Amino acid sequence: MASEKMQRITIQPTSGLRGSPIIPGDKSISHRSLIFGAIAEGKTQIKGLLGSADVQSTQYCLKTLGVNFEKQGDDLIVEGKGLHGLQTPTNSLDCGNSGTTIRLLMGLLSGQKFSSILLGDSSLSKRPMKRVAAPLIKMGAQINLSENQYCPLEIKGTHLQAIDYELPVASAQIKSAILLASLYTKQKCTLTGKINSRDHSERLLKHFGVKIDCSASQIETQPQQKLTAKDVNVPSDLSSAAFWIAAACITENSKITLNNLSLNPTRTGFLSVLERMGAHITTSVTTDSPEPIGTLEVETSCLKGTKIQGQEIPLLIDEIPLIAILACFAQGKTEVRDAKELRVKESDRIEVVAKNLRAMGAQITTYEDGFMIDGPQNLNGANINPHHDHRIAMAFTIAALRAKGETHILDADCVNISYPEFFNTLESLKNG
Ligand code: S3P
Repeated sequence: MASEKMQRITIQPTSGLRGSPIIPGDKSISHRSLIFGAIAEGKTQIKGLLGSADVQSTQYCLKTLGVNFEKQGDDLIVEGKGLHGLQTPTNSLDCGNSGTTIRLLMGLLSGQKFSSILLGDSSLSKRPMKRVAAPLIKMGAQINLSENQYCPLEIKGTHLQAIDYELPVASAQIKSAILLASLYTKQKCTLTGKINSRDHSERLLKHFGVKIDCSASQIETQPQQKLTAKDVNVPSDLSSAAFWIAAACITENSKITLNNLSLNPTRTGFLSVLERMGAHITTSVTTDSPEPIGTLEVETSCLKGTKIQGQEIPLLIDEIPLIAILACFAQGKTEVRDAKELRVKESDRIEVVAKNLRAMGAQITTYEDGFMIDGPQNLNGANINPHHDHRIAMAFTIAALRAKGETHILDADCVNISYPEFFNTLESLKNG
């Protein structure tokens, strides 16, 4: 690997990845620890918080809302303000590239006594916000979206009413926005419909002492509850570990062990798919509450194609670009359907995956809601344009390990959104 300019990184084919890398903290749990800590009563000590641009966006917004943070060694202390202690922001709240920041804050800010403006970078400004605003507006929230759909957006805080809402999209960000808003209502709220997305908000709210009843078909919150500060141990992010799990599977003579890994069943769809594809993976859960955490071992594997659709999609939504790469090294067809959500992520991930795989010489058929790859496909080194999307840059770095010739990842700095140490960890695995 050679870094020619800051943004462009060259990846050579390689094999024999070995080691036990430290994987950074889970992004979803990091955002939620900061937000819930900010509205809890008392001080929350967070261990293992992810230090990435997205999480910094959440911390910056909370600071602008008057929340104080203190470093204690490697940990971060959040000085909770209680449910009603946030302050009128003196500036617009810049959420950067982070969908989780803006959407969770939309729920939180709808029930405040002040107004706020939320904005983001050019990618976030193109992502749909109406799907979050719609249920909140039903609760009485006053939200003005740009062009009736996007950010920048303005929220005039007001009294909120309870809601019984059937979620039309399996999105943890929408679900969490409603759960945060429900803390400010006087009656219980009920969520039904597509609630089977990642459940970190439900688990962490319980951890902070909130009564919330969850079943497979319904989530019910009790009114007027406060959060009580409680320390949080953020496990390593399976979505970041996924790159090394895929790399170990497709490169010869590789064996990687991952410790302290989040193994929350609403996030482990990628592991189930890999097992179906024939990967050599073993996992063991060592802690279960509030989040399942464990160890994973993976080694070089012969993969076969599989079909991924329906209820499985929300359980692996962020790993689908990587599944496209794995499909190129699997025997037979791999098909992903029911995943049109990919079109409204940090980039249009169906389009951007297809464009870059074709640049590497692979054949891929795309659909409005997914794609099909008939493997194996030979990949050649190419110039990869990730369209500022961190997960695309990292997925194609893994593809490059098995390509013929060298690959250039343009705009590689975008990995800082979720995994600043990504390229250093790759180096350490090569020498492992
Ligand atoms: C996230 C939820 C998912 C995921 C995103 C993080 C979260 O988005 O893609 O990376 O932390 O709640 P959706 O809620 O839009 O599915």
